[in-house]
Amino acid sequence: MKKNSQDNSQSLFQPTFGNRPEQYIGRDGVIEKFMAGLKEPVGSRDRCTLFLGQRGMGKTALLLELSDRAQKAGYVVARVTAHEGMSQAIIEQLQLNGSKYFDNEKRKMTGMTVGALGFTFGLTFSEAAERQYGFRSKMSLLCDKLAEKGMGALILIDEVHTSAAMREVAAAYQELVGDRKNVAIAMAGLPHAVSKLLNDSVLTFLNRANREELGLISTNLIRAYYDKAFKSIKVEASDKILDRAALSTRGFPYLMQLIGYYVIQYTPAHGVVTEAIMDKAEKAALGDMDKNVFEPILNPLSDNDKLFLTALARCGETVTTAKLQAELGPQGPAIQPYRKRLIEAGVIESPRRGELVFAVPYLTEYLLKIC
Ligand SMILES: Nc1ncnc2c1ncn2[C@@H]1O[C@H](COP(=O)(O)OP(=O)(O)OP(=O)(O)O)[C@@H](O)[C@H]1O
Ligand SMILES: [Mg+2]
Repeated sequence: MKKNSQDNSQSLFQPTFGNRPEQYIGRDGVIEKFMAGLKEPVGSRDRCTLFLGQRGMGKTALLLELSDRAQKAGYVVARVTAHEGMSQAIIEQLQLNGSKYFDNEKRKMTGMTVGALGFTFGLTFSEAAERQYGFRSKMSLLCDKLAEKGMGALILIDEVHTSAAMREVAAAYQELVGDRKNVAIAMAGLPHAVSKLLNDSVLTFLNRANREELGLISTNLIRAYYDKAFKSIKVEASDKILDRAALSTRGFPYLMQLIGYYVIQYTPAHGVVTEAIMDKAEKAALGDMDKNVFEPILNPLSDNDKLFLTALARCGETVTTAKLQAELGPQGPAIQPYRKRLIEAGVIESPRRGELVFAVPYLTEYLLKIC
């Protein structure tokens, strides 16, 4: 049987973490807000944005999308994952990605330095600048140099968490803004990693950053995308099948990629998606969710945490604390310490006072299955 994987269908859905999807769906609002911020005066709130979302909600994919759009809008982009050496990595990325705009600047004579400006040629620092200057001064020089070409610098930091390096970048950003340098920053992280980070006094500036929560995406948009994607490779899917495929994602972006991917894998080239194919695709997709989302979330937790979560799962998707206490019984553990720890671990959320929900769709089913 000829598989769809032999044509361009392979690139339509790529269920791997950290990749750039064929089309980034359902986040137009946050993307446009950030892009509009880049046109605002230096220091405006939307030029410093923190994106928060659970695993698989599309944080890395969003930074990739912003990187692409910002480059088209006249920004040189440094995209890094938070780590101890990130300030150096930011400088190197800006030099590397910005160098093409300085191609026509001929290499200056060997040994000659343009001391005052701190560069030898293009975006390469003079030896003295390289040796003597720290992150902030180098950023300042780079921003000035980019400004000569009417360009700005955008720093993208993924998997943000508290660290000395993060403090250095945050402090430098504030100073650069104070000096009116054309710099902007977007960070992404898990909600609990960032809530810890926000308690760090050195990083209080992040409290003033624009915050965007990346939640589930609209299943209507997912349905429309499936429709378009399947048609583009001449795979036929009825309205009923499209409804089923979209609803079964429950708006979770990673699952949208998985289900789309397996539907195409299991459907013959130019064939029809049947209910049986959907059964198989959903099963395979949820198997990947087990391995790549649920196990990593639950593995670090204690047995008691898991018992608590299972009690929560037995109560349904959205649970009041009163109902949960009843499920745990009068002799059961106190809810508060578990609640706090599991919210910090990104397993549950409390959208309203006295209410708990699982942070990722299908986690309820998974817990009920394994316990
Ligand atoms: N809005 C979206 N539209 C289409 N695909 C998306 C969207 N968001 C995420 N994806 C896809 O879902 C998968 C997971 O996304 P991504 O790796 O960006 O998640 P993440 O939030 O960075 O997860 P983690 O916290 O584990 O790093 C990727 O395959 C990505 O391409
Ligand atoms: Mg990521």
